[in-house]
Amino acid sequence: MNTHHDSQPGRRTFLKTTAAASAPLLAGRVVRGQEAAQDTSEVRIGIVGAGGRGTGALNDSLTINDNVKVVAVADLTEQKGQRLRDILGRKHEGKVAIDDTAIHTGLDGYQKVLEDPNVDLVIFATPPGFRPRHIAEAVEAGKHVFAEKPTCVDPAGYRICLAAHEEAEKRGTAIVTGTQYRRQINYIEAVKQIRDGAIGDIISATSRYCSTGIWFKNRQEDMSDTEYQIFNWMHYVWLSGDQIAEQAVHNIDAMNWVMGGAPESAYGSGGRFTRPETSEMWDSMSIDYVYPGNRTLSFMCRQIPGSTGDNSNTIYGTEGIAHIGAMSQGSKITDRDGKEIWPKKGRISDAYKQEHKDLVDSIRAGQPIVELKQTADSSLTAVLGRVAAYTGRRVTWEFLTEQSQLDLYPEALDWTAPRPESQHAVPGQTKLV
Ligand SMILES: NC(=O)c1ccc[n+]([C@@H]2O[C@H](COP(=O)([O-])OP(=O)(O)OC[C@H]3O[C@@H](n4cnc5c(N)ncnc54)[C@H](O)[C@@H]3O)[C@@H](O)[C@H]2O)c1
Repeated sequence: MNTHHDSQPGRRTFLKTTAAASAPLLAGRVVRGQEAAQDTSEVRIGIVGAGGRGTGALNDSLTINDNVKVVAVADLTEQKGQRLRDILGRKHEGKVAIDDTAIHTGLDGYQKVLEDPNVDLVIFATPPGFRPRHIAEAVEAGKHVFAEKPTCVDPAGYRICLAAHEEAEKRGTAIVTGTQYRRQINYIEAVKQIRDGAIGDIISATSRYCSTGIWFKNRQEDMSDTEYQIFNWMHYVWLSGDQIAEQAVHNIDAMNWVMGGAPESAYGSGGRFTRPETSEMWDSMSIDYVYPGNRTLSFMCRQIPGSTGDNSNTIYGTEGIAHIGAMSQGSKITDRDGKEIWPKKGRISDAYKQEHKDLVDSIRAGQPIVELKQTADSSLTAVLGRVAAYTGRRVTWEFLTEQSQLDLYPEALDWTAPRPESQHAVPGQTKLV
């Protein structure tokens, strides 16, 4: 396979200058159905994090978009990059052109992707703890970004995201995030119904992200502390943010969308019954969020084998009730007696692709979408719930955004460096910082 050198200076100039010229017009808003886009220039993709979702997200982009090509990959090991190239190369003829020299490894491999002048757009799908810094550096490097959720796991990362959002708007580069429900038709239509008054005024809501478990990876011989923690990243809060941030952020994001923004405070509880001793994660959390106007959200997430799963969102209004089912379960509105008055179907697989179409269309139209703040707000809403539960305190949005010093990212990150032993939070003992 050939490395791609930029043989089309006009193309590159177009992708950069049209974006810069017109970005403020639509920045921060979702641009749907940009069929009118004039430009069809090739968009060249680099990917950082070639695991399950990285491969899936890239597959979605290559499936839905014409004239896109993946040209570089970074993961911790070469084998992951090669695997991604092999899997997607077989599926997408002509759209996978990763030279051997464009497979980068190690903790600084992502920087090689950002330095590559052939890369227009970078997909980030590493463990979330890396995300704020990776996004910020990508924006500085002038790249368009697709960032998987959550985009931060602590207030320090949130502030990095806000700065990166502003910088991308200034530079006219796009940032789309992996909160696919924002692009799923039954979610979009249900939120529109609610906004249009179909359930009257919102009083309260319940939202659940309850399942039967998640993977755990045992330490292998000769692994350093850092290497093991990244290998088993889900179970370290600095890397995953715990279940409420890593997974449940999907439904928290949907609730922020319904409520029109972030909550004012959170109070909650939870614990761990079934996690392996070395996991830092809790396996259940129950959080009461209060949104402006004294609207409450009762939120629950759980990963306990043998328990009953539930992934639903229910919004109670003065006139009716909106039910938004996760995945492809559809939405409906009932009156207060339970009679269905409005249904809508929607497929998550379409939403996963739509986010990549919107991103590429927006770049080509010179109207890059910048939606990082919205997803950073939802990620921090998850963190707000986690901090309230971990400490046992009522915690406000204002405290977390303006005063909290919580910064989980290691001061010096090195592959062989020792890391503190895992510890899990204990309400009443874990400090609010
Ligand atoms: N939108 C969705 O529905 C959805 C679904 C699944 C996962 N995700 C998100 O995608 C992200 C990845 O999850 P996953 O399930 O693919 O995990 P995974 O463990 O399968 O993949 C992560 C990959 O990142 C690599 N990696 C780790 N640190 C890295 C670094 N510093 N630089 C480069 N590569 C690094 C790992 O080696 C691994 O290959 C998470 O943020 C997760 O929440 C989103």
